[in-house]
Amino acid sequence: MRRVVIIGAGGFIGSHLCEWLLESKEWEIKAWDLASQKIAHLLENPRLQFHHKNAHADATLSRAIEDSDVVISLAAICNPAQYTNRPLAVIHSNFIEAYQLVDLCATHKRWLFHFSTSEVYGRTLGSYSAKEVVETEEYSESNSPLVLGPIHQQRWCYASAKQLLERYIYAHHSENGLPYTIIRPFNFFGPRMDFLPGQDGEGIPRVWACFAEALLKGKPLQLVEGGEARRTFLYIDDAIRAVLLLLDKPDAAQNQIFNVGNRKTELRIHELAELMKSCMSELRAEKKYLNHPCEVVSGKDFYGEGYEDSDRRMPNMKKLEALGWKPISEFRPMIKKTLQYYMNKYDHRQDL
Ligand code: NAD
Ligand code: UGA
Repeated sequence: MRRVVIIGAGGFIGSHLCEWLLESKEWEIKAWDLASQKIAHLLENPRLQFHHKNAHADATLSRAIEDSDVVISLAAICNPAQYTNRPLAVIHSNFIEAYQLVDLCATHKRWLFHFSTSEVYGRTLGSYSAKEVVETEEYSESNSPLVLGPIHQQRWCYASAKQLLERYIYAHHSENGLPYTIIRPFNFFGPRMDFLPGQDGEGIPRVWACFAEALLKGKPLQLVEGGEARRTFLYIDDAIRAVLLLLDKPDAAQNQIFNVGNRKTELRIHELAELMKSCMSELRAEKKYLNHPCEVVSGKDFYGEGYEDSDRRMPNMKKLEALGWKPISEFRPMIKKTLQYYMNKYDHRQDL
């Protein structure tokens, strides 16, 4: 039996990871999260010991890490609306709380398997440099990009905190021999992603839940800045397969950083909106969804002051593919499965 500590086990990725690890019967899990609804169906499993608490305020965490083979860190505030509305909480969650976990893993020399983000790449260089001003450029405190964009564009506080944590992990590796794996997920999607506002959470969730909510409530799908930004999307099962592969190959996985994404699913966000409308139309056998309205909103109106977007995120996947991984899920059926999850969970509610 291998022993894993998972921080943030009750979230979207954590709930799927716990399911798969328990299914394999090779793992004993000690898990922490502030929420448990998404793993309620797993809590009776004797191989899962769940601590319904803030992991970083729990004195028993250190002992659990000492007793483990690997520590998986998922806990984070990772919702773009919060980067502009609660930047202090975002930095606190993604760096200040998180670095204490790195210290604990270094103290006990335990393998830290950390979830970073594709956002550390920021924006494409071209989005900044294509303007023919390079020769005359001067650095300005308030306007010049720091790769991730200027400080007052607070959207980048999450990416900065995640990047600094990667550097902190690497520093512990080089000075103290901390074994680590960092993965950079590129927009995973699937059932249990986020919440529907006013139903089981408040605020603005990530795009899949935003669009599902709009379709279910008969509201327009909102396209931030026209929905021109591009993303690649990876279905959660393929993502978890990547994690399991890396956990099974410590010699190849340790002390490395891996992109985890799907190069074949790139869409502009307005194209994702059309795809979700068409999948909803098939699921409900109702043509009206094909004409469901979209509306353009500014980033400032949607997310607040300080929002700036990643224009494009195309992962190079050679490193993970060299270990034998590739995504196998078909895109359209998985979009339907994700929409079906929101329908099953929320459709019966009178107030929708
Ligand atoms: P999520 O919000 O669904 O899950 C995060 C979980 O961490 C939540 O259940 C939350 O309650 C928990 N948590 C936060 N602070 C905690 C604390 N102090 N103690 C205990 N639990 C705490 O997010 P997710 O989509 O599952 O993402 C997990 C990780 O992967 C995050 O670090 C995120 O930055 C990273 N990531 C996710 C994606 C994606 O596509 N979902 C992409 C890039 C990076
Ligand atoms: C996300 C979050 O930062 C993290 O969960 C994660 O670390 C990161 O992706 C990642 O995969 O690495 P982002 O892709 O910008 O960032 O967040 P989404 O909510 O998925 O938004 C995707 C795009 O849709 C953005 O361009 C956003 O402006 C747009 N959007 C979102 C809309 O047009 N309409 C909406 O209703 C919601």
